[in-house]
Formats: sequence, C-alpha cells, structure tokens
Amino acid sequence: MQKPNMLEAKKRNQHEINYTSYKELKDKFGKNKKYFVRTYGCQMNEHDSEKINGMLESVGYKKAESYEDADIVILNTCAIRENAHDKVFGFLGVLKHIKDTTNPDLLVGLCGCMAQEEVVVNEILSKYKYVDFVFGTHNLDNMLNVIKEKIDTNKNQVEVLSYEGDVVEGVPTVRDSIYSAWVDIQYGCDKFCTYCIVPYTRGKQRSRKKEDIVNEVKDLKEKGYKEVTLLGQNVNAYGKDIYDDYNLSNLLSDVSDTGIDRIRFVTSHPWDFTDEMVDVIASRDNIMPYIHLPLQSGSDRILKLMNRRYTSEEYLKLYNQIRSKVKDSSITTDIIVGFPGETEEDFEQTLDLVNKCKFDGAFTFAFSPRENTPAARMEQTVSEEEKMDRLHRLNEVINKYSNEANKKLMDKTVKCLVIGESEKDNTKVCGYTENMKLVNIDGPHSIIGKIVNVKITDTKSFSLDGKYIEE
Ligand code: SAH
Ligand code: SF4
Ligand code: F3S
Repeated sequence: MQKPNMLEAKKRNQHEINYTSYKELKDKFGKNKKYFVRTYGCQMNEHDSEKINGMLESVGYKKAESYEDADIVILNTCAIRENAHDKVFGFLGVLKHIKDTTNPDLLVGLCGCMAQEEVVVNEILSKYKYVDFVFGTHNLDNMLNVIKEKIDTNKNQVEVLSYEGDVVEGVPTVRDSIYSAWVDIQYGCDKFCTYCIVPYTRGKQRSRKKEDIVNEVKDLKEKGYKEVTLLGQNVNAYGKDIYDDYNLSNLLSDVSDTGIDRIRFVTSHPWDFTDEMVDVIASRDNIMPYIHLPLQSGSDRILKLMNRRYTSEEYLKLYNQIRSKVKDSSITTDIIVGFPGETEEDFEQTLDLVNKCKFDGAFTFAFSPRENTPAARMEQTVSEEEKMDRLHRLNEVINKYSNEANKKLMDKTVKCLVIGESEKDNTKVCGYTENMKLVNIDGPHSIIGKIVNVKITDTKSFSLDGKYIEE
C-alpha cells in the first residue's frame, strides 16, 4: 500500500521525470465485462477518463450503458471544492447498495484528485472498505496493474504516489468526441495559489515535449478531427520546465502550422501571458478568439493573499490588450468570493473590475477551505451567508454582461462547429462559435461534424439560437 502524503506532495525536484511509453497488458482480464467511469472535475480529468476508458478497452472491457449493468465502476474525482467530495461519497453509497444486493462481484475504484488527499484515503480505508482499489493522478498509466492485482489477490489496493509521476506517452485513449479532442500539453502546477489544492494533487509542472504534442495534433487531424483544445492548469507557463527558448507562443504557432481547423487552449494564467502570445493568437485564423482568463478577485489586497502575483491594474491591462488585438474575441473568467479576510470593500472592487471588463461569462465560486493549503489556515472571516449573498450579487452582474455580449451577435452570421443533436430539441443540432458560444441550430443532422455558417436569430444568457445558412 502506498498512501498519499501532502507534505511530500508540496516538495519539488524530488524525482527526475522519465519519458516512457505505455505498454499494453496482454492478458485480457476485461473479456465479456463492462465498465462505467464517472468523471467529476475539470477538462484534464475528463481527458484522464478518456485514457481510463482506453486502457480498459485495451484489455477487453466494453462500455456499459449505466453503472447498474457494469462489472467495474471507476470514480475519477475532483478535490477543488468541498462539494465535490459530497457528491463522490454519495455515489459510493449507491454503489455499496448494488454490491450488497444485485451485484456482489462489482469492482469499485476511485482515482483522480481526491485520491491524492490523505484525509480521503484514510476515510476510505476506515469507512468505505467496499472500495476495491484506489490509485492517484501520478500513476494513472499503471491502473491496469492495480486492477489486476485486486483481481489476482482479492485484496483491496491503494496505490497513490505523492511525488509527480512520469510523462507517459502513448496511453490508449477512447475519446468522447470524433470532432473535438483534448490534448494535454502540461501536467501539474507550480503556482501554489494559497486557496488551491491542485499543486498538491497534480504535482509539479511537467510539460510534454513539443514534438509529441504536434504529432498528436497531426494524427488527430488525419483522423478527421476539426478542433483541439490544449490542456494545462497554466498553459501560459508551457515549456518553462524543459525549454530555454520555447514557450506557448511557439507551441501555438507550431500547432497552428499543422492546419487543424480550430485550436483552443485552457487555462490561461495572467502572470505568464506575454505580448507574443497575444500576437500569435491575433494573427492565426485557426487559433480561436476565446480566452479563459481567471481573475479570482478585483482587490489587490486579496490577490496578494491569494498569491496570484498580479494586480487588478495588470489584469485589466492584459484584458484590454487582448480585447483590442484579438478580433471578435470573447473572454471568460473565474472568480472566488469569500476568501479569508475579504471585506465588503474588497468585494466591491471585484464588482468594479467586472463592470470594467464586461466578461462574456464567468464561473463564480464561494471560497472552500482545502486540506493543507495556506488559505485554509487563515482566519475564516466571511460567513457562509455572506459568501452566498456576494455570490448572488456577483452572478447578477455577470449574467447581465453575458446577455449583453450575446445580444451583440443578433442577426450576425457566424461559423459554428456542429457537434451533435441539440439537447433541448432533437429536431435541431448544436455547435460552438469560434468564440465559444453555444448555438442551438435549426439545420439538418447531416451538418454534424462540419464547420458551417449560422445566422443568429435569438440570444439568451447562456446560449444562442441560429439558422443554418447553406453555402
Ligand atoms: N489553473 C486555473 C484554475 C483551476 S481550478 C487558474 O489558475 O486559474 C478552477 C477554479 O476553481 C479556479 O480558477 C478558482 O476560481 C476555483 N477554485 C480553486 N480553488 C478553490 C477553492 N478552494 N475554493 C473555491 N474556488 C476555488
Ligand atoms: Fe490552482 Fe493557482 Fe495552479 Fe490554477 S494556477 S491550478 S488556481 S494553484
Ligand atoms: Fe479538480 Fe483536480 Fe481538475 S482538483 S479541477 S480534477 S486538477
């Protein structure tokens, strides 16, 4: 057994990172068996689940329709806020019931960021003994060995490393979409924002090699993919750990040169966003004019306590630079309310900045103290009621501006990548504009998978309606 240790997880430079290759397990222990994977968390977790699916299918498992008819259920968890925990433990209760009644042989596994937390693993070992195996984010590629060990020995397995894993290329992947693909460019994070657990659960920053990324994109393009989204917690810091003179702007140019139709990237950190990056985004047609640029707070005092390393003025300068250089751009953000010490005045400074920026949209969160992070040890001065009140007031302003931004698109003709049937109305299809607005489209199913012209006929806060325009 190898349990997580948060102090070890904070250390850097403990291990040299090896670049190795995933070797398929030959014995088909998934033959005639079905799997179900539930994902909580960010795009990186979603992409990890695509690798989990790929590894399971490589040894014969088939996808189950639901967890009720699966032989193995894996929960790929998120630790970013406390409510993520509650959902996971709730679902574990449902799975226990299935094991106790209809399917005693069901294998239940837990992985992802919660698996990297000491408190979680201790709780599982003491109270959730029916969880058959736990593995962490750093040894995802070793998942099949952990499962095999469980099957062979019938002993519960806990394999969580508290130092960063290797960068493993070639892990089999079954992607959810055949048009749009996630591509990891970097793992981990070294920023240590004081509220955030990610540097502990994902380890130090490790960039993938540029040629591996570019080759993956070329391969996706050959397979017919129209869009790639480059993933990392701080994509703007790409390359800093392995190259002297190659950064995100170079990578974006190289990926753009592959000729793939659409390139996106998340998440940007204002700290590492350079002028060259803005210029390359502005100058390349296949780099989409959509930037997610987390602000977190509009108060310099709180930004400092958060260890974000930019001021509200620096943020605004970068924001305006992107707006002026990148044509028809949309910019979204993340904001936390109720950080320890946040006063009404600090909160109003956040509202002020939102009023200046007029974001296209935002994810807003109430501060949630996370295990072992500095902010969790600060005096918690904002009550839950105040947090909810601020969140509510903030969301009203955010929604007003999303609505306004969407209204500007009324009657315009925009390019959409059509990704599938509309969730609201199965006679329609849906897709995304270049600047990442969701459009429900009046058009035939035959345009799914294509980039087409759409005329916007109605706008709402969170989506648009449009009509397909034949070329
Ligand atoms: N790497 C990205 C963010 C990843 S986490 C960045 O640096 O911006 C996504 C969002 O979750 C963060 O932007 C932040 O707004 C929110 N978040 C992270 N930790 C949180 C916490 N402890 N409580 C509330 N929200 C949090
Ligand atoms: Fe967390 Fe900050 Fe790293 Fe983003 S940059 S993952 S918020 S520590
Ligand atoms: Fe959650 Fe881990 Fe992503 S904590 S947000 S799944 S990196």
